[in-house]
Amino acid sequence: MTVPVRDEEMPVPVEQEGQGGNGDLVDGRLITIKQPYSIAAEQYRVLWTRVCQLMQDKTSYVLAVTSSIKSEGKTFTSLNLAISIARDFDEKVLLIEGDLKNPCLHEYLKYPPGFGLTDVLEGKIDINSCSIQLFEGRLSVLLAGKTAGNTSKLLSSHMMQEILNSARGNFKYIIIDTPPIIPMVDINIYYPIIDGILLVIQAGKTPRSVVKRALSSLSSSEKIIGAVLNEVESNYSKYYYGTRYSY
Ligand SMILES: Nc1ncnc2c1ncn2[C@@H]1O[C@H](COP(=O)(O)OP(=O)(O)OP(=O)(O)O)[C@@H](O)[C@H]1O
Ligand SMILES: [Mg+2]
Repeated sequence: MTVPVRDEEMPVPVEQEGQGGNGDLVDGRLITIKQPYSIAAEQYRVLWTRVCQLMQDKTSYVLAVTSSIKSEGKTFTSLNLAISIARDFDEKVLLIEGDLKNPCLHEYLKYPPGFGLTDVLEGKIDINSCSIQLFEGRLSVLLAGKTAGNTSKLLSSHMMQEILNSARGNFKYIIIDTPPIIPMVDINIYYPIIDGILLVIQAGKTPRSVVKRALSSLSSSEKIIGAVLNEVESNYSKYYYGTRYSY
């Protein structure tokens, strides 16, 4: 499906939701909060509807959001999608910052970097004590935590599996904002413990050959449920708001 660059069309008052309940504290990139009735925000509702169709009747679903290379919009997509699920669809969702080498979700949420996934994995803190609660607890966010040395070892530990197993009991939907496929292929570490992968592609920037190379370096492409064409220019997107999935 396509997600346009956040647009200034149909401005609406900023909702008093999100961190601290003060709309002015909300980062402009959270378009699902800042401009909930914009075309861009609508695309996340459409995206979720499409993802739901692909989840079949699973009682819980772990969705990894990745991209071929860095800066294609994984965090932007993960967070806006998670907000839309919690707020527009009234569902409980856990968003995990799984990009431990390059954490920046706290910046979007305007939170100081604090305890998070690495600390839970190291047994320093309980997940409930360090996750951020938004939308009356419907959206929980687990930040990356203190940057640890060997993140691959931590992520492939049994503890990671335990965290997800226990989260599956509390949340119907778990979204993991993962690192890009190139150069590290860290997504392969997540592969056994996730149900589906959403590939974010930056429109007009990421060459097709790079996407192909990224896909071929995955241990398997079986779990890819679709692709999001991100940052489509608004002039173009005015005329093209169709959903496009690749399977
Ligand atoms: N649809 C969009 N409209 C406007 N800006 C966007 C959109 N998607 C992403 N951006 C901007 O592009 C930049 C990169 O996005 P983001 O941080 O989500 O990328 P990323 O894939 O998570 O990067 P990294 O690989 O470093 O983790 C950010 O400044 C973000 O605000
Ligand atoms: Mg990111």
